[in-house]
Amino acid sequence: MKTSKILVTCPKGIAPCLAQEIKDLGFAGPQESIAGVSVSGSITDTLRLNLHLRTGHHVLYRLKDFTCENPEQLYKEIYEIAWEEIIDKSGYVSVASSVDNPTIKNWQFANLKCKDAIVDRIYKAEGKRPDSGPLTDKTVIFLYWKYNSCSVYIDTSGESLAKRGYRRIPLDAPMQETLAAAVVLAANYHGDTNFINPMCGSGTLAIEAGLIALGKAPGLTRQNYGFMHLKGYNDAIWENLRKEARGKIQKTIGKKIIAGDINPEAIEAARINSRLAGVEKYIDFVVGDYRQTPLPNDKNIIMFNPGYGIRLQEAKKLELTYKEIGDFLKQKCAGSTGYIFSGNLSLLKKVGLKAGRKMIFFNGPIECRLCEYEIYQNASQ
Ligand SMILES: C[S@@+](CC[C@H](N)C(=O)[O-])C[C@H]1O[C@@H](n2cnc3c(N)ncnc32)[C@H](O)[C@@H]1O
Repeated sequence: MKTSKILVTCPKGIAPCLAQEIKDLGFAGPQESIAGVSVSGSITDTLRLNLHLRTGHHVLYRLKDFTCENPEQLYKEIYEIAWEEIIDKSGYVSVASSVDNPTIKNWQFANLKCKDAIVDRIYKAEGKRPDSGPLTDKTVIFLYWKYNSCSVYIDTSGESLAKRGYRRIPLDAPMQETLAAAVVLAANYHGDTNFINPMCGSGTLAIEAGLIALGKAPGLTRQNYGFMHLKGYNDAIWENLRKEARGKIQKTIGKKIIAGDINPEAIEAARINSRLAGVEKYIDFVVGDYRQTPLPNDKNIIMFNPGYGIRLQEAKKLELTYKEIGDFLKQKCAGSTGYIFSGNLSLLKKVGLKAGRKMIFFNGPIECRLCEYEIYQNASQ
């Protein structure tokens, strides 16, 4: 397939970080939008993006842009695409979409029209319809239809890239892997500082830090992608990209990654998850209160992700926790940079330290902040 627009989607707030990652992979002129970054490239380029990106969700390869007023026109335009060259007649296709058009009351109807056009076209050309349904682990087509402007993409990722494949034990309120990677990168962590994560839960932040420090492509742990189900998929190209990525993994990490949690079950889960991600031996796990986490005598990154307290009563209880984290940073972490990531902006006010930077992220619909605190030597005085 030829060069086309590639749109990489991401949660709101992450596009600048994603654009930087895409630039670092050698793509020219990435264009940022609210929840995505677009570049120009080939289907082979989508394989590289799927393998290496830490903060993207879906790598979409554009097939067609057109003006579309109604469902009949949608069917006609989509039927014109040579689907028999893209999807095997014995394959499986599912359609996902983002639709905002006055003639469509229910997005499922638009998906159905799109799916019908695809399978009817393949039937006409090949005498057999591929299966279709909601599963996203085979071929996924993405329809973007806003007012009268429509684009059809192949979702070369299939399932979201946030599902790295290493998190078997999620526990309570785990951070999405892509969000965790974006938060770690936003703290300017590249493996050349100690990374301390004293409330690690299932370990997502520490694991993403480990992958970053090692230079390990996050896609190496995942076995299935949408592009693998396309006609003409060349496994040799994918294997070469994987081999090249494996060759770039560092043998050691110069600095420490320390992950602690008061709950022994969390540490057990984090350990198992980190093993699946291939970073277990680079993380020191400790069970205990965060105030007991061993701190190297160095300029460390100390990152907290305490609970947000969705219910009012829980939030009330957490007020003291946030205040005490602030005290701990002030009294015990001089010379380091502290970070608190939270979706509760009122609780962040209880920390009692002035954030030098406040970065906005979204955890699903919840607006979150990553607050950065430079802790100076005389902060506790
Ligand atoms: C919101 S979760 C962290 C989620 C984590 N980022 C993940 O991706 O799984 C907060 C964690 O803080 C831990 N925690 C609560 N109080 C603590 C304390 N005093 N010391 C250490 N850990 C604590 C909880 O056990 C819980 O695992």
